[in-house]
Amino acid sequence: MVLSDGALGLALALHGRGMPEILAFGADVGDVASVVARSNRVNGMDVPPPSATLLPTVGMGAFQWSAIAGHRDGRDFVIEFSNWRVEGSGADATLRAQDEETKLEIAICLSILAGALASRVTLTNRGIGVFTLDRCMAGSMIFPEGGAELTHFAGSWGREFQTRSEPLNARLWLNESRRGRTSHDRSPSLLLSSREGSLAVHLGWSGNHVLSVDTLDDGRRLVHAGELFESGEVRLDPGDAYESPVAYFALHSAALRARLKREMTWPGSAAKPRPVTLNTWEGNYFDHKLPALMAQADAAAALGIERFVLDDGWFGKRDDDLRALGDWQVDPRKYPTGLKPLADHVHGLGMEFGLWFEPEMISPDSDLYRAHPDWAMHVPGRDRPLSRHQLVLDLTRKEVSDHVFACMDKVLRETPVDCIKWDMNRDLAPSTNAEGRALTSKQTRAFYALVDHIRAAHPHLEIESCASGGGRADYGALRRTHRFWTSDCTDAFERLEIQRGAREFLPPEIMGAHISASPNHQTHRRLSLDFRALVALAYHLGVEMDPRTLEPAEAEKLKGWIALHKRLRPLLHGEGAFQLEPHDGRYIWGATNQDTIAAIVAQGPQMVGEQPAPFRLPRDLVSPGHWRIVTCAPAAPDFIRHTEEQRMLLSGETIVSGATLAVAGLNLPMLRPESGLVLEFQRVNGG
Ligand code: GLA
Repeated sequence: MVLSDGALGLALALHGRGMPEILAFGADVGDVASVVARSNRVNGMDVPPPSATLLPTVGMGAFQWSAIAGHRDGRDFVIEFSNWRVEGSGADATLRAQDEETKLEIAICLSILAGALASRVTLTNRGIGVFTLDRCMAGSMIFPEGGAELTHFAGSWGREFQTRSEPLNARLWLNESRRGRTSHDRSPSLLLSSREGSLAVHLGWSGNHVLSVDTLDDGRRLVHAGELFESGEVRLDPGDAYESPVAYFALHSAALRARLKREMTWPGSAAKPRPVTLNTWEGNYFDHKLPALMAQADAAAALGIERFVLDDGWFGKRDDDLRALGDWQVDPRKYPTGLKPLADHVHGLGMEFGLWFEPEMISPDSDLYRAHPDWAMHVPGRDRPLSRHQLVLDLTRKEVSDHVFACMDKVLRETPVDCIKWDMNRDLAPSTNAEGRALTSKQTRAFYALVDHIRAAHPHLEIESCASGGGRADYGALRRTHRFWTSDCTDAFERLEIQRGAREFLPPEIMGAHISASPNHQTHRRLSLDFRALVALAYHLGVEMDPRTLEPAEAEKLKGWIALHKRLRPLLHGEGAFQLEPHDGRYIWGATNQDTIAAIVAQGPQMVGEQPAPFRLPRDLVSPGHWRIVTCAPAAPDFIRHTEEQRMLLSGETIVSGATLAVAGLNLPMLRPESGLVLEFQRVNGG
């Protein structure tokens, strides 16, 4: 059978027994229907089962890493599905089968959209007694044999999405994450590339996860993505089903981004232009004073800012991060008549009002904890290890989820709120329920259910996904939210690498990027306002400082950058977004359409080379014709050296052909470290 949407195809062979064989995955799989049976191996099975299958199981002669594994109290670990049926055709199909011995049923749901395949699995226990599921991947895909490179995204708090590439060897490559959230260090995304092709993989899941790349007996690779279970975490009673998250596979990460954009759900059905945001965190921290916040809103509106987000500190006795999580009542000391006066003031200025919550958490020093210490995840008899002085609520208990919903719902009914920042500032440890059973799988689903519940009750709300920065930026969270906070590190220099890694799998318009104060609060690095602004310009732009602290000249400058962002926003947030591989500390990204190219050129560290490499755009990004630069910002770029020809190019006096831009490239001037340029090209009339 062949599944295809025209841009991407998957050819499978369904055999009488065993898992569906993957025959081909690519842009044009034609009508591949079968492959020649492989040789019997001298030292192997007389009739070797195919090794390139979806979701290999264990026990019947397929010796690779198994994607589905489990048992009934030690028995029934040999799983072999048979009698495959296909429902659906074209770009969507569900493959169903059962195993008469283990009494398991499987449904593999496949769909291709925007050139990306989504795969998810439902496994049902039709037998007598509990079936303990040790592993059930959401999907598998093949990648060709031979030398290849693997790229993954490592990091830690404030240093998320660090791009790491390594040669792919003939062994098992495994990435397991058990932090109970998407994580800062093991983003569930993977890129494989070789002369034979490329593969982009992402798991849309906000809990524990596994990505694995297994080398098959013929040298090809099988890549798997799915949830990671702790011991005994998933026990299926008779009739119970396990539903996996969604694994995504495409030939390029651009297709995955395109698919995510199609799957995101917006209030009012489509995304409106992403409002330039003022976030109060770094400008105020926990020091909330109503008159000062109102004055900051005035200053923000004057800069052209469109959304004002009140961050942590407005509830309970939250004067620092030691207390009050769980006490979602407006603090009367700071807001004697509630938050409505501030929200009304913000709305009166023509801006949206946003509010911070951290719904899944509880501080030991909180009224909620004093009333319900058992609501925090813990193992009876063991310590309750703190992280950022807080514990995690067991949201799988209905009374706990209902309570959190009721508190949030009350605040959202009393205050006109347009968006919330949904934060999550610690890993789950231990992740257990009151019986001491592993909980992450169910907790992740309870988190999704709580988000869905809030959105159903407040359909106009947008949600920002934050977990100490970019710790919860995956397609599972992002299908139900509208922005993610890319990193708690707002240093523009650090952001070059962070944003470069993040935008590989995530559309730039949903990545929060804020212009913050100098010296930077995380690194103490001093950077010019121009550099800070141009590094944030292409993303969901924000400002995170007290805008009243800006000198008048700086405020004017910032206003100019915000105006430029708004003018270029439809282009930068459109379909033609691109980024180039950084070279010698120079990062280039932007967007193109038929008539305009916006390119941001940022020099991070000092160059090593004597000259920057020519600025070349991929051919398919440059419409034919002639081009000239119509905007070059900042007004006085920080060049080390530049020639008269370069001056003429940047001032638009020189017209260049599309071929020059795409093939020869433009010799842009040398920039000093920590400086950059925004270039806007227009296609010349009749060019
Ligand atoms: C996390 C977030 C920050 C801020 C603080 C508030 O660290 O990532 O942006 O909201 O919490 O406590």
